[in-house]
Amino acid sequence: MAQQLRRFDDRKILITGAGSGIGQATVARLLEEGGTVIATDISEAGLAVTRERAKEAGDGDRLSTVAADVASEDAVRGAIGGAIRDLGGLDVVVNAAGILRACHTHEMTLDFWNKLLAVNLTGTFLVTREALPALLASGRGVVVNFSSTSATFAHPYMAAYAATKGGIQSFTHAIALEYAKQGLRAVSVQPGSIRSGMSDDPGVPADGDWSLFAKMSPALAQGFAPPSVVASVIAMLASDDGKFVTGTELRIDGGAHM
Ligand SMILES: NC(=O)c1ccc[n+]([C@@H]2O[C@H](COP(=O)([O-])OP(=O)(O)OC[C@H]3O[C@@H](n4cnc5c(N)ncnc54)[C@H](O)[C@@H]3O)[C@@H](O)[C@H]2O)c1
Repeated sequence: MAQQLRRFDDRKILITGAGSGIGQATVARLLEEGGTVIATDISEAGLAVTRERAKEAGDGDRLSTVAADVASEDAVRGAIGGAIRDLGGLDVVVNAAGILRACHTHEMTLDFWNKLLAVNLTGTFLVTREALPALLASGRGVVVNFSSTSATFAHPYMAAYAATKGGIQSFTHAIALEYAKQGLRAVSVQPGSIRSGMSDDPGVPADGDWSLFAKMSPALAQGFAPPSVVASVIAMLASDDGKFVTGTELRIDGGAHM
């Protein structure tokens, strides 16, 4: 029997978007590998499920949860900053919180555009900024950000979402170089076709042209893959197994965009 990996026994981790989908699967994976985790999400109900799953797996004693909106500077400074201080340090941040909305771009309202930017891009910035002092103090800090295949491949009706994900990649490149000499690594994952809360209903307009999505089917599967396929890659990237990986992105889409 293969020996269980325990790459996070001595690591303190913050995961946003941890009440559903990929964030929730990443909490489970990093707890399983011995990590001590703060799980945060805007959804209290989602966090309750995350806690229940950790308890069932026997890992509940290394998990704390905090409800917060990543788009709110006050919430990030207060609730998330407080949780980091309570933990007494931080080695890894996984910025999984995000929203997907789709519409015809010529009909997109400014509120729609601003909401996507606020949660996906500004949220990633606010949480990263809050975590950076503790990550730099760790001397081996890792930031894992969530881009998307939409950042580099055309995804119709998702212009605002795609723009936030392209911005996250650029942000990640910049901090990777800025803090490399202090031991920080920063990487993005680009998931695609993963079963989750947001992919259950991507919100493509009723009159949308589905033939435009023809190039987005995974080569490795008939349908969408479970979030654990991304969590396992994050575990590699955030652990010392990924120690020579920084300032780049990794596509995890079953070959949909080869
Ligand atoms: N599922 C995919 O195929 C796919 C593809 C590309 C990128 N992604 C990215 O993966 C990440 C995780 O998404 P998922 O697929 O697991 O979807 P999901 O909807 O299951 O999870 C997203 C989580 O983010 C939380 N969230 C939303 N707004 C928030 C806010 N303002 N503050 C705090 N938390 C908030 C939600 O409550 C939810 O728990 C996202 O950044 C998403 O853009 C997913």
